Amino acid sequence: MEVRILCYNADMNSADLRKKYMKFFEEKGHKVIPSASLIPKDDPTVLFTTAGMHPLIPFLLGEKHPEGARLVNVQKCLRTDDIDEVGDAVHNTFFEMLGNWSLGDYWKKESIEWSYEFLTDKKWLGLDKSKLAVSVFAGDSDAPRDNESVEIWQSLGIPEERIAFLGRQDNWWGPPGLTGPCGPDTEMFYWTGKGPVPKGFHGNNDEPLWVEVWNNVFMQYEKTIDGKFVELKQRNVDTGMGMERTSAVLQGKDNIYDTDLFAPIMEKIRSLGQKPDLKSERIIADHIRAAVFLIADSVTPSNKDRGYILRRLIRRAITYAKKIGINDPFTTILYRNVVELYGNYYPELKHHEKIMEELNKEELKFSETLKDGLKKLSIYIEEIRNATLWGKREGLEYKKGVKAGGLLITGHALFDFYQTYGMPLEMIFELLNDANIKYDRYALESGFNQELKKHQKLSRTASAGMFKGGLVDHEPQTIKHHTAHHLLLAALRQVLGNHVVQRGSNVSSERLRIDFSHPEKLTKEQLQEVEQIVNQKISEDLEVRKEEMPKEQAEKLGALAEFGAKYGDTVSVYTIFNQDGSVFSREFCGGPHVARTGELGKFRILKEEAVSAGVRRIKASVE
Ligand code: ALA
Repeated sequence: MEVRILCYNADMNSADLRKKYMKFFEEKGHKVIPSASLIPKDDPTVLFTTAGMHPLIPFLLGEKHPEGARLVNVQKCLRTDDIDEVGDAVHNTFFEMLGNWSLGDYWKKESIEWSYEFLTDKKWLGLDKSKLAVSVFAGDSDAPRDNESVEIWQSLGIPEERIAFLGRQDNWWGPPGLTGPCGPDTEMFYWTGKGPVPKGFHGNNDEPLWVEVWNNVFMQYEKTIDGKFVELKQRNVDTGMGMERTSAVLQGKDNIYDTDLFAPIMEKIRSLGQKPDLKSERIIADHIRAAVFLIADSVTPSNKDRGYILRRLIRRAITYAKKIGINDPFTTILYRNVVELYGNYYPELKHHEKIMEELNKEELKFSETLKDGLKKLSIYIEEIRNATLWGKREGLEYKKGVKAGGLLITGHALFDFYQTYGMPLEMIFELLNDANIKYDRYALESGFNQELKKHQKLSRTASAGMFKGGLVDHEPQTIKHHTAHHLLLAALRQVLGNHVVQRGSNVSSERLRIDFSHPEKLTKEQLQEVEQIVNQKISEDLEVRKEEMPKEQAEKLGALAEFGAKYGDTVSVYTIFNQDGSVFSREFCGGPHVARTGELGKFRILKEEAVSAGVRRIKASVE
């Protein structure tokens, strides 16, 4: 991004931001409370604290908080959903969230007016009013359009053209688990482009120069286990201001890694590395910072749940460190930078021995394995590169006559590297890129995922629960998301046309993600129609049937395959039948799936965005 952010307080550091935020809300009658742990205390449905409101859920539901009804703090948070996007300008896993809360006390007027005062008053952040824009909830069948917030914004002087009405995927927040408090929100954006502020505002989905700085959620609903939204006993306000993003805006930086929250760590990484590579440096900085905070909150590396995420963060950091030529142990060196930056705010980071020991142990263990893997991979790459006669197989160019299996980089081979040496797929892709090897990412990903599925099946039968390097995720919620994924693809084809084919996917217990071919952004109406079709098919409680058959037969029956994926001679096909016996969806798939669509609960599209030219991505979930 070529952004230079201009504002009045261009040199405000993150310590000032922290201090001012607390002081402002203390003056408005709030009590400062400490950050809770990254490990949620009473919520078994979520691995980590993902927002400032998370530890406050009982109080948002009506329990009395000992400090009163107005609270303010900085909360440690961790989100791993977007781990693949870490390394760009704004994504990270661990982050700090500034937040203020009304527990059944003040409501929209105070909340919005105070946000505006804090952002624009010269005594506080002093941001340029003419560069502010806001979004509000447009309304849907569960909750009405938020006209009250619009009126308040207008009374403060925000012009109509800078107010966007957006749907549930943008302007609704929560609950972080399956049930709990939630509600419509209003978000504040700051224009970070160099030139004049453009006319109009439609959210920042297609214009990243509008940076979201604050989100005020009006929590007046509780989502219940049967997917309904019922009014809460009390009306709460939950706000979240990302420390990293807002610091970037205030410090005139075009990315979070150049702010004072990261700069010393980044500098240290650069001094240790031999081949500069910005994305790798950012990934290392983010992941080690996150790992240190996790260990300080008593997580240790393992193959399960939180320990697995921690292990993955450390191992990814090590892999990228190798890539930029950091060959000696480095995690504990960076730990020192993290403590220097954050130790005063989070004394738990000062448990030097424990944290250094865990980092050291994991680093030693993994470095050895990885060294072997990288050597092996570079031999493969060299052989492919030196090839003289080229052909095509699994999307990769390769030398004709080169022994199959041994020398080809296929989805299968990539899985072996992942499985045996713990090398993440994205790192292998990067090494292929560095070596100028041409390949079809989607084809290789499909091959890789096929192997992954096979392996998961094997490990299930061995009831291993986990396998090296990855999680076997066959939780009921993940299975539901698998089936919803099939319904979604069929609905997309129905609404948009048969040019829609799957280009990638990822399913977890938290959400499903599908990448598909389509030339343009989906309209609000199209998204609503897709959502409505999927929910209709769920309410019809349709049969989901699995059949094994020869590949040819499956193709004749019109079963959909992922673009570029390779399948064996005998395939398994999942079909979802309409009530009249016709086929609604038929896909090549290893499963598993639910037996009937009625098991799914309400389907929601959470986000729609671009992945690359001609490929869109939808994130969605079911209850
Ligand atoms: N809970 C809201 C968020 O995380 C404020 O954005």
